[in-house]
Amino acid sequence: MTTFTPEAGTARRVGVPMLDLGYQNRQVADEIAEGFARVIEKNDFILGSDVSAFERQYADYLHVDHVVGVGNGTDALVLALRAAGIGAGDEVIVPANTFVATAEAVVLVGATVRFVDCGPDYLIDLDALRDAVSAATRAVIAVHLYGQVAPVDAIRTIVGDDVVIVEDAAQSQGARAGERWAGALGDVAATSFYPGKNLGAFGDAGAVMTRSETIANRVRAVRNHGGLRKYEHVEIGTNSRLDSLQAVVLSAKLARLDSWNDERRAIAARYTEALAAVDGVTAPLTAPGADHVFHQYVVELDDRDRVLGELNSAGIGAGIHYPVPVHLLPAFARHSPGAGAFPAAERQAGRILSLPVYPGLTETMQAEVVDQLAARL
Ligand SMILES: Cc1ncc(COP(=O)(O)O)c(C=O)c1O
Repeated sequence: MTTFTPEAGTARRVGVPMLDLGYQNRQVADEIAEGFARVIEKNDFILGSDVSAFERQYADYLHVDHVVGVGNGTDALVLALRAAGIGAGDEVIVPANTFVATAEAVVLVGATVRFVDCGPDYLIDLDALRDAVSAATRAVIAVHLYGQVAPVDAIRTIVGDDVVIVEDAAQSQGARAGERWAGALGDVAATSFYPGKNLGAFGDAGAVMTRSETIANRVRAVRNHGGLRKYEHVEIGTNSRLDSLQAVVLSAKLARLDSWNDERRAIAARYTEALAAVDGVTAPLTAPGADHVFHQYVVELDDRDRVLGELNSAGIGAGIHYPVPVHLLPAFARHSPGAGAFPAAERQAGRILSLPVYPGLTETMQAEVVDQLAARL
């Protein structure tokens, strides 16, 4: 926790970083040090026994048949799409409010992105999806944005059984839909273990999850130069392997994921209760029955950029996820109908503000965030 001294004459205040992984890291430090020593002793750095152990643990945790560790979440999306047979000439529906990688992966496999608008809960808008589905639709990416589970069953009802549902589960590790886990709801799922995720590595890492042995084996081959056995390259692959040291970190953290997610939910509940008494800010809308593991706690307010700038100057971490909807990013100019096409996503992008939410954030720090925010509305 950092501290800062405000103008002379006022009380010393507590600064609140947007993210601090120290609390999590301290809990797993010894276990990880032992695991690293084991990997180094065995010289088992690439696709070693720690990788298969983590893949098995995460598959058991999600109640899914296969987890295939890869280099990062973007590769996980690309490999999931490729393994599901999505490529040139195929249309893939993607929500306009997501991290750029969701749409990037579609373009990288040679397919066509079809953006759709978002609902007030920031997830894909089901009416917009219904309007967008056509004979050309081969896949839809259900993004569990901010940690909230997207309505995959409702999406299935709309798109039917012939359309592949790919989950982007990068922000939703540990979130559930009833008795099922995000990442085990569609045909194939991709996740990122970027350090700040609910389950984060000590660098880049990701995974593909699926019940299909065919898809899993294809990902296993493509992540390792297109072959399941050494020097047997049956298709053009790539190098996108989860490494053993990251697997050690992920196994240690997986054992604590549920309790860390409970902390996130408790922090979110405290924010929502405190913000109910503050005019000018809207707490996140969670769809009825949807689980949320609060990778981000996103509020809406007027004059967001001024408030964000003032909060940051006052030592309060806050951010925007995401300031520009993907269809308005320069990289997607050729792939998008342009400004005005998705009014909800465009309006939200100008109003959303993410507040600090992570295990270890104390009630004092949270009160400071709320006080500093309220003072600027
Ligand atoms: C929703 C979403 N999809 C995909 C990714 C890409 O993951 P990575 O950064 O590991 O490539 C991220 C990570 O930031 C993400 O938040």
